[in-house]
Formats: sequence, structure tokens, C-alpha cells
Amino acid sequence: MTTNRKRQQGQPLLLINIGQLLTLRSISRKAGPRRGADLKELGTIKDGAVLTLAGKVISVGSTKDALRDPWIRKHRKKVVEVDCNGKVVVPGFVDSHTHPVFVSPRLVDFEKRIKGASYEEIAAAGGGIRSSLEAVRQAAKSDLAAKVLAVLQDMAGHGSTTIEAKSGYGLTPESELKSLEAIREAAGSWPGTVVSTLLGAHVVPKEFQGCSQNYVEIVCSEMIPRAARRNLAQFVDVFCDKGAFSAQETVQVFAAATKQGLSVRAHVGQLSQTALAPFLRFEPASFDHMDHVSDDDIHQLAQHDTVATLVPGANYFLGLKEYPDARRLIEAGVPVALATDYNPGTSPTISVPMAMSLACTHMKMSPAEAVAAATINGAWALRVADRKGSIEAGKDADLAVFDVQDYREIPYWFGASRCALTILNGVATSCDRTFLREFA
Ligand code: NIG
Ligand code: FE
Repeated sequence: MTTNRKRQQGQPLLLINIGQLLTLRSISRKAGPRRGADLKELGTIKDGAVLTLAGKVISVGSTKDALRDPWIRKHRKKVVEVDCNGKVVVPGFVDSHTHPVFVSPRLVDFEKRIKGASYEEIAAAGGGIRSSLEAVRQAAKSDLAAKVLAVLQDMAGHGSTTIEAKSGYGLTPESELKSLEAIREAAGSWPGTVVSTLLGAHVVPKEFQGCSQNYVEIVCSEMIPRAARRNLAQFVDVFCDKGAFSAQETVQVFAAATKQGLSVRAHVGQLSQTALAPFLRFEPASFDHMDHVSDDDIHQLAQHDTVATLVPGANYFLGLKEYPDARRLIEAGVPVALATDYNPGTSPTISVPMAMSLACTHMKMSPAEAVAAATINGAWALRVADRKGSIEAGKDADLAVFDVQDYREIPYWFGASRCALTILNGVATSCDRTFLREFA
């Protein structure tokens, strides 16, 4: 940890005059991700205040009470005071699905799609994920780490403070481990929190085409044990869909991960429907995409804590007319999260507010549901809800200050970031001119 970061964390920080403070504090005694009507409960405090110290939230309440607090009055000189002047404060976004370890954008695929080719057609013709592999295999770890760090910093500028980061563009044991090491290196230079995922089962690389079993064997017996031994990943992910891995192969990868003590998650239902029941015994943290899902599976998911992570950026960027049916999931009681799915093929966006905007306009989620899905339910999807996703005493000091008067403006002003200040584990970073003098 840098000296500057330690000094900042050690200093008490008091945010006052918060127009709307969205705490997302827990509303029921039953622990678990938000479902149904609970998804829109934001726990809003008007004219709020938050005190943080040593990377943790110490107290949350009204500005009036904070200014009367004996401890705050006694230590006023030491406390760094941030006058939010009516702005909105939310828990830092938890972007629970990103693929940041790649070298170049895929501009040829982009143009082909504009001319009418589909994601699957482009992949079958040698584009898609496979066309990103060579550059990652050749890249120096430090170059990959620099790219990941730049993205983490940009994401923080849009309000994200916890980010899941997947490997998945190397697809050899060496390059997958190098990608995870690059994530770790970048995370060490960033004040926010990174959760790493091994996505060795992203697609079958071309040297294994026609013998996917041999590749799955390498994922299970080499990549997963090596990543686990070195503590390089908390999760193992699989792209389970046509053109990628079958349900049976997914079960194989999940079993290998579980054996090594790693938790699992999967990309499912993006291009076609897969029955989810065989996966549930592994208690996946999330099923991501979920464009295609049966009523039976929805019914089962409502009984589990597995989060359905919706990534509408992918639908937008692929130019699809259909989006995941968020209303059907929410009304059935399935916990729903929102994430960017930042990646070069389907969703090159770093912006959670953009994902929220798409969720509101195309998936008919209310702004309140979108906020909860991008904070507390994102935290559940990463199994960090005990410390992330809400602003409550004892939790990590992860906050985002938006230069708006009403939280509904966050998804409303689409395509532009209104984030003015992000506080990551107690470290404040200015995102615009508003707080530049205090926090460079
Ligand atoms: O989440 N579907 C699989 N993985 C990514 C796409 C990766 C890529 O095209 O590079 C996704 O959409
Ligand atoms: Fe993805």
C-alpha cells in the first residue's frame, strides 16, 4: 500500500449535506440477495452524512446529528470534511462481471456486425474471442497489468469501487496464469477491491478444435489447480453456450473448481437456452447473461441465492432487439444484479451507469431497482456482501458521489458520467472538477 493511500485511509473523512444518501441498508433479518419488491428499497436519508475512518464506515445518519456528534466535534480539526452540497451519494458500484485482460479492440468484428454478420457467424469465421488470443499470449505481464490498471481507474471514475476481473483471452495454462497475475499486479496499485476469476473455459482454442475434451482436461487438471495453489482466483467461470462449452463440460469444470476450493459462476443463456438444474448442486455465485431461460429454471432459481447477473451492454453493442427479461426474473423472486461485462467483443463499456440506463429503458427496471442491482446484489454475486454493496457502519468505506440532485438522474443522463468523487476503501479520488482541490 502506498504511503499516500495509508495516510488517506488513516484520516477520518466526513461527508455532509448529502441531498440523497442511498444507504441500501439491510431491510430484513434474513440474509441473502435482494428479491422482488425488496429490490427497490434504497434506505434513503435526506440531508445525510457519513463518517469513515481507516477504510471503514463509522457512522451514517443526518448532517444535523453528525455535526452534533461529540467525537466529531472533538476531532473536527483532524477530520477531512467534504461538503456534498446537495449531491447524491450511493454505495460504490460493484461491477460483478468484467473481462479486462485483452490487448486490442476488435474493430473488424465491429464493422462486420454493422454490415449484418452475427456474433456467432463472426466467431465461426475466425473472429470473436479466438482472434484476441495471440496478442495476450505474446504480451508481457507488465503491459497487461498496465492495461488492467488503466481500466480499473476509468471504472472508478464512473462510480465503481469493487470489480470482478476475469482472465480468458490467453487459453493456455501459462497465459491464463499470466492474465491472473496481471490482474493481481493491477489490483495492488489500485485502492478499490478486485475479485479475480479464472475463465480458462471461455472457448476451445483453435489448436484443440475437434477435441474439446482434451482442452477441458487441461483447464481442470492444470489451470484450476495452479490458480488455486497460488491463490490467483476466487472464482472459476465457464462460457456454457453453443460454440463454447456444453453443460456436461461445464459440470466437469465446476467439479474441478469445487475440488480445489474455488467457487463457480457461468455465462449461460446468452445465445441459447441451457437447463440450469445440473449446475445448482455447485451453488454457483451467479448465472450471467440469462437472455434465454425456462420457467422451470426461473422457479428453481427463486429458491436459491445464485444471482442472475444481467449485462445489457452486450445486447446493446451486438445490436440485438431483445434484452434479458428482467421483469419476469424479478417478479418470480430471482435475485438480479447488473454489470458492464466490459470486454472487446460484446460490451466495450466501463460504465455501470450506462448498464443501469439500458436496464431502465430496455429491461423496464426502475431506477431504484437498477441501483440495488448494481450495488448490494452485485456484492452478493461476488460473495462480498458482508463488506460491500451498502453504506452501513462496519462495512468498507466504498462510496460514489454523483453531481445530481436526484438518484434517478444517474441512469437518466446516459453516456456521460456525473460521478464527482469516488471513495475506495476510504481513499477519495476526484472524478471531475468539483472536488479537485481536495482530492487530486
Ligand atoms: O460475456 N460470452 C462470452 N464472453 C463475453 C464475450 C467475450 C468476447 O467476445 O470477447 C461476453 O459476452
Ligand atoms: Fe462476459
